[in-house]
Amino acid sequence: MSWHGDSYQKHFDDQAAAGVDVHGEASFVVGLDPAPRSVLDAGCGTGRVAIELARRGVRVTGVDVDQSMLDTARRRAPHLDWIRADLSQLDLGRQFDAVVMAGNVLLFTRPGTEASVVRACARHLAPGGALVAGFQLDRDYGVDAYDAHCAAAGLTLAQRWSTWDRQPLDPSAAYAVSVHRRTAADQSYFSTLTRSGSKPAANSAACAASTISGDPHA
Ligand SMILES: C[S@@+](CC[C@H](N)C(=O)[O-])C[C@H]1O[C@@H](n2cnc3c(N)ncnc32)[C@H](O)[C@@H]1O
Repeated sequence: MSWHGDSYQKHFDDQAAAGVDVHGEASFVVGLDPAPRSVLDAGCGTGRVAIELARRGVRVTGVDVDQSMLDTARRRAPHLDWIRADLSQLDLGRQFDAVVMAGNVLLFTRPGTEASVVRACARHLAPGGALVAGFQLDRDYGVDAYDAHCAAAGLTLAQRWSTWDRQPLDPSAAYAVSVHRRTAADQSYFSTLTRSGSKPAANSAACAASTISGDPHA
């Protein structure tokens, strides 16, 4: 799927001009405890979340695969860090306090690549960091599959809400905002791996295998 960045952004600009708060995602992210000082906006689109986070003092990097979306992001905030890449293969060699997938990113990735996208996002999380994702629940990909992909990447569900302003999740919810964190066991596992370069234990996550081989699809 390809996007038209300016049209996408215009929708939010029109809403903002009409007085709608269009920064719920950024408010949610800065409200995490601890508040992240660095954020990877994964599937950043026109950068609307990253730009607002930067305005609030967060160091941000935006990654998206779509050229039109990134052109709009770059024009809106040329001073910020925008990278064109496929999340399913992302390896920036850097880690962030939080990785954010806002706006249904996981519903727009190529079907079958969701696990690789989650694994790559997990790889970019600093110890104790948070993976934040918000997506609709009426599509083929749901929270059960997402939780399984997070678990395989060494992440544990910490919080789940139905909106970005932290309304509780109930069975009729149409949307979920999830916060996953890397477990302590996995953190020590990853630091052991980094120090020794050794092979993972038998129960290690698929994420670890890909870290060793360098192949995000391993
Ligand atoms: C609905 S837009 C959301 C954009 C932005 N996060 C927001 O909330 O406004 C979904 C974005 O995900 C991006 N995307 C989908 N799959 C991707 C992938 N594999 N790698 C990088 N970006 C991807 C699309 O290009 C698109 O910009």
